[in-house]
Amino acid sequence: MGQALVAIVMAAGKGTRMKSDRPKVLHELAGESLLGHVLHTLSGLPLTGTFVIVGHGADQVRAALPAGVQAVEQREQLGTGHAVDQVTPSLVGHDGDVLILSGDVPLLSAETLAAMHALHVREGAAVTMLSAELPDPTGYGRVLRDANGRVIGIVEQKDATPAQLAVREGNLGTYLAKWPLLREALANLTPNNAQGEYYLTDAIAHLAQAGHPVACHVTPDPLEGEGVNTRAQLARLQAAYQARTADRWMAAGVTFVSPATTIVGPRVQLGRDTVLEPGTILLGRTTVGERCVIGAHSQLRDVTCADEVEILCSYLTDASIGEGTHVGPYAHLRQGAALGRKVRLGNFVEVKKSTLGDGAKAAHLAYLGDATVGCDVNIGCGVITVNYDGTRKSRTIIEDRAFVGSNSNLIAPVTVGEEGYVAAGSTITMDVPAGALAVGRGRQVNKDGWVAKRRQAAPQA
Ligand code: UD1
Ligand code: CA
Repeated sequence: MGQALVAIVMAAGKGTRMKSDRPKVLHELAGESLLGHVLHTLSGLPLTGTFVIVGHGADQVRAALPAGVQAVEQREQLGTGHAVDQVTPSLVGHDGDVLILSGDVPLLSAETLAAMHALHVREGAAVTMLSAELPDPTGYGRVLRDANGRVIGIVEQKDATPAQLAVREGNLGTYLAKWPLLREALANLTPNNAQGEYYLTDAIAHLAQAGHPVACHVTPDPLEGEGVNTRAQLARLQAAYQARTADRWMAAGVTFVSPATTIVGPRVQLGRDTVLEPGTILLGRTTVGERCVIGAHSQLRDVTCADEVEILCSYLTDASIGEGTHVGPYAHLRQGAALGRKVRLGNFVEVKKSTLGDGAKAAHLAYLGDATVGCDVNIGCGVITVNYDGTRKSRTIIEDRAFVGSNSNLIAPVTVGEEGYVAAGSTITMDVPAGALAVGRGRQVNKDGWVAKRRQAAPQA
């Protein structure tokens, strides 16, 4: 986008109609805050700065900002013009453009911003705005045009005459403006309107009146400009987001068995010929390779899957899964769990802060916490790494090709050496040397005739 470009995201408003203690822009859609969606869209642009105007819930919003994004506080919310003006001291010497957006408009696409920018350059506009013909423009500012179709101003719902209210072209609240011109127009705003606010939209009208060209990109897709004001709107946009995301990934060769029940966050990457079954939720920085199956009702957040991974009905956060590995059903991976290639992890296995080497198996009912498990290790049913003594966490090391029999407790810190065997039902408190068999359990005693003797001693009533 040519010259120096700065983005300003307005996010100081209260969001009264959400009936929430949480700032509106921090409500989530597909696992990311509304503001996060906007910042994600901006992340693809060559910006020289990104400012977020914070006000209500300023501390919470500030804490949610990624590195490189600056918060600017608007102590009193005196209107959108006042909001943008808060950045003025930070933009001394900036003579390029500013891109102004709202933090509660999650579906705005990078393509639309690019279209606005192309128009802005083509028309040499002072301001380029975004509008849409709305079936019901209630609540939106109406775009006013002259007989030649040129934008001459925007009138707010509350200030509009009946004739102006009949206009269906709504202002979607996203703008690209030449900063030196906008700055001057902002400095001259007055709050002479029904809401007693400093309207950003008035600054645009002033520029138009002063003869500066104002361009307007009319999007055929009003949802892109829809802000979230209520939870019902949030749910509607969530549904629209899911449909769009599914369409985009299906076009790229990913199967969605049930788009309406599948949630894929904006930062997720999916490989060709991967299948997402109904009810799957992929969030955060999750990446799924090619030819994977993410089975019904799985949730993955910040998970990396190589190719040909199969995950059935499991819950994974902060994990990585090697090629050809099978997980689930009902597995739980978290906090840096890392599985190698062709690992088999079965039902009711939990893996925390542990790595499993290629070909390792834990097919049922196990807890692997703070463990380093080698290649081709077999973890029997019911094996537990006893990693916590009430004060400290300790590591368990299980070397390549070791075999840990069912229902064993490995009391960490402990090492099972290469090809070591642990007999089923053992409680292992000492290291097991490579190639050794460790039996750590009481020896079985059979007492012949014991039942009859007990009956004689205490006959049953
Ligand atoms: C504004 C536009 C309106 C447009 C609508 C699109 C003005 C005067 N009107 O309406 O033409 O149709 O957006 O949604 O600009 N905010 C602040 N500080 C403030 C006021 C608002 O940061 O003092 C933020 C809000 O948090 C929100 C955004 O600005 O993210 C827009 O504010 P909102 O009150 O939703 O928009 P309107 O003023 O109703
Ligand atoms: Ca308002």
